[in-house]
Amino acid sequence: MNLGLTIIKGRRSVRKYKTDKIDDNIIKETLEAARYAPTARNVQPWKIGVVRNKETLEKISELATYGKFIKTADTCFVVFAEKDHKFRVEDGSAVTMQILLSLWSFGVGSCWVAGNNMEYSEDVRKLLSVPDSYVLISLIPAGYPADVTIPSKKERKEIFFNEEYSEECEE
Ligand SMILES: Cc1cc2nc3c(=O)[nH]c(=O)nc-3n(C[C@H](O)[C@H](O)[C@H](O)COP(=O)(O)O)c2cc1C
Repeated sequence: MNLGLTIIKGRRSVRKYKTDKIDDNIIKETLEAARYAPTARNVQPWKIGVVRNKETLEKISELATYGKFIKTADTCFVVFAEKDHKFRVEDGSAVTMQILLSLWSFGVGSCWVAGNNMEYSEDVRKLLSVPDSYVLISLIPAGYPADVTIPSKKERKEIFFNEEYSEECEE
């Protein structure tokens, strides 16, 4: 397996973190990786926040219904996209994935925590003083893994089809 595939297939959502600090250079490289995400018509309609202040992390985790572990992370990336952009969700999701994979390539665990259309989206935006022309797409807490759960993945034959749709594909 090549290195890229090892990173892609090895990534898992990590929700338990060690207290070690993530090196600033990893944060920087990850933001660089984010810049290279694909985006419809190359509009790049995103703003990506980096939150490392403990009090702010706690406030975000209070807001995020299924992200209570955010307060235990070293860093939380916060992805916003322009509210009126047609492809805001796709573009914001692409950049989110780029961040998850970049972090994992450095051995840093993270987890995509829902942001788009969540009841707390606006509160997170206001907490971080982001203009209302942006909407929250995702929250990405990150830290060195203290524990990793390995969720099962569907079998290839259940999710792919060759040429035309079939319930189960023959490999
Ligand atoms: C759009 C989206 C929203 C998610 N929201 C949450 C969340 O709010 N809290 C959480 O703990 N995990 C969240 N996850 C992570 C998924 O639970 C996780 O990706 C899934 O269980 C598969 O596990 P894996 O990432 O280890 O492959 C989200 C993932 C996606 C793509």
